[in-house]
Amino acid sequence: MTDGALPPSPVVRRLNSATIGRAAADLVMETVRSSDAPVIGVATGSSPSPLYAALTVEKGHFGGTRWFALDEYVGLPRNHPQSYAEVLRNEIVEPLGLDPSTVHVPDPHRTDLDESAAAYEALMASAGGIDLQILGIGRNGHLAFNEPGAPLDSRTRVERLSEDTRRANERFFDSLADVPTHCLTQGLGTIGEARRLLLIAQGSAKAQALHDALRGPITPRCPASILQLHGQVTVLVDDQAGALLGR
Ligand code: GLP
Repeated sequence: MTDGALPPSPVVRRLNSATIGRAAADLVMETVRSSDAPVIGVATGSSPSPLYAALTVEKGHFGGTRWFALDEYVGLPRNHPQSYAEVLRNEIVEPLGLDPSTVHVPDPHRTDLDESAAAYEALMASAGGIDLQILGIGRNGHLAFNEPGAPLDSRTRVERLSEDTRRANERFFDSLADVPTHCLTQGLGTIGEARRLLLIAQGSAKAQALHDALRGPITPRCPASILQLHGQVTVLVDDQAGALLGR
């Protein structure tokens, strides 16, 4: 790459809901088989669910892997079913037969959350960094819980959730009042250090955000626009989510 030139555009593959999970699982397994100690970054939310379901056929083939969550709510009691530690226990630890001690989530229960964020960064670094980061995208263009306005070089930290994101996640809780107001999230700079990125997006609610992320300017107004700065990005979309991307 010459000075100032952008890396190659993200590779966009259009699939349907029946095939998107398997295609994503193939990429994960490629990474899992590529080293003795592969490190996978995992997202929560509905987007990666087809991937995790497709990975269950590989149960028992994840020895040596380590897994790092993108983010976690702050303020939920330990073992709350919507805490991302619990979501990941149900979505990957049990179905994939993972050793729970290999699946890491930022710790929202420490008194000093800045320390918690720093410890999480240190743990990822000691694992050798993330080989493949799985991502969803928020309908406001957020990545993990990096809301619009987050610095493109941000690191793991405490953040306030936007009202749009709280409303989007209300479906997982009894009411909007129950949705936490804060979180710990990997930063955009942290995410950008993963060696490979895999974004999954389905449904028309993601179309504008995906367009802005991949075709718009690289700006904190659309956190997912950092994908354009990374040379190894695969985006798996259905026709609805990819509707504004052009052919
Ligand atoms: C959530 C998560 C993100 C996720 C995004 C999209 O709030 N923190 O990591 O990618 O929002 O969620 P979904 O896949 O449910 O649309």
